[in-house]
Amino acid sequence: MNEKTLIKGKIHYVGVNDRRKHLFEGMWPLPYGVSYNSYLIDDDIVALVDTVDACYFETFLHKIRSIIGNRPIQYLIINHMEPDHSGSISLIRQYYPDIVIVGNRQTFGMIEGYYGAAGERYEVKDGDFLSLGHHCLRFYLTPMVHWPETMMTLDETDGVLFSGDAFGCFGTLDGGFLDTRINTEHYWDEMVRYYANIVGKYGNPVQKALAKLQGKPITTVCSTHGPVWTEHIARVHDIYDCLSRYEAAEGVVIAYGSMYGHTEQMAEALAAELSYQGIRNIVMHDVSKSHPSYILRDIFKYRGLLVGSPTYCNQIYPEVDSLLDKILLREVKNRYLGIFGSFTWAGAAVKRMGEFAERSKFELVGDPVEMKQAMREADYQHCEQLAQAMAARLKKDRNRE
Ligand code: FEO
Repeated sequence: MNEKTLIKGKIHYVGVNDRRKHLFEGMWPLPYGVSYNSYLIDDDIVALVDTVDACYFETFLHKIRSIIGNRPIQYLIINHMEPDHSGSISLIRQYYPDIVIVGNRQTFGMIEGYYGAAGERYEVKDGDFLSLGHHCLRFYLTPMVHWPETMMTLDETDGVLFSGDAFGCFGTLDGGFLDTRINTEHYWDEMVRYYANIVGKYGNPVQKALAKLQGKPITTVCSTHGPVWTEHIARVHDIYDCLSRYEAAEGVVIAYGSMYGHTEQMAEALAAELSYQGIRNIVMHDVSKSHPSYILRDIFKYRGLLVGSPTYCNQIYPEVDSLLDKILLREVKNRYLGIFGSFTWAGAAVKRMGEFAERSKFELVGDPVEMKQAMREADYQHCEQLAQAMAARLKKDRNRE
């Protein structure tokens, strides 16, 4: 039994799977579920790294006890305080009343706020060290990946990094938790969607954390969500590096709202011309059907963005407006933007999306296209010209790369 939970040295996986929750943070769909990862170091001194959502405490405790039996846990290392990981702190303390919580100054303030007095504590600063016997742990403060108190713990004995949310992804662990023992295929897109929606705003802090890890001999990455990475560490690192730099591949996301299909006809004309111009990665999203988490995922993936909206109550169509807010919230950078829209008696959406272009600081390509009521020959031509401008801008980068 213990062999099945073993990662490396004396480190075990004791996380749980959540296949019940529909929406993570009440917002983001979980078609493949999500795992809350926790790790138990069964050393001379026993330490637990993070906990799990309180709903799964019984399973969690059973996993812990099947490894250490009645031995006490000396330390609970809290890398991240978001309740999907800290939720079982109070229950763990009921079962292990002498446990010492390891965290930084910010951690303890949050523990008191969420769970009352923190009890016995071991406060660490950046670079501090803790020996458990075989395993020697070093703590690195990595604020805003993804909360202010976040830190990472590196086991210097075996190169095992407990990375918190960093390098995480949606998706339960079905059977195995090691990337070498499972089919990892569906995690890659879910990693981008997880990053775009959960961590997307914090590109700079992620870059700072990656710089701090530079050169460290890391053999295993134990995130709080998704597989334990061993053979795919380089790929996982590259994904987080590119996304946090807001780098993206050649391609265009066409996100549009359409009540009666006229704005959609503009989107179709744009897509057809982009394809004709040699752009292969084209992703179309009707904002009333695609959940925004998938649209944001694709906006993080591709450099071009064409946004279309009918005028609605003298405003941008609400679902499009909401998407634009989500893009601004994440401070997405370095995208090429084209705007199109329609109206019946007074145009407003295209003008207001121009304000989004300014606020986002995206590079506006081509002339915005505004169509009255239904498509005519001139409207098709204007859409083609906008698509040609987007394709030309993307190809300019292609020639440079
Ligand atoms: Fe999975 Fe930021 O918590």
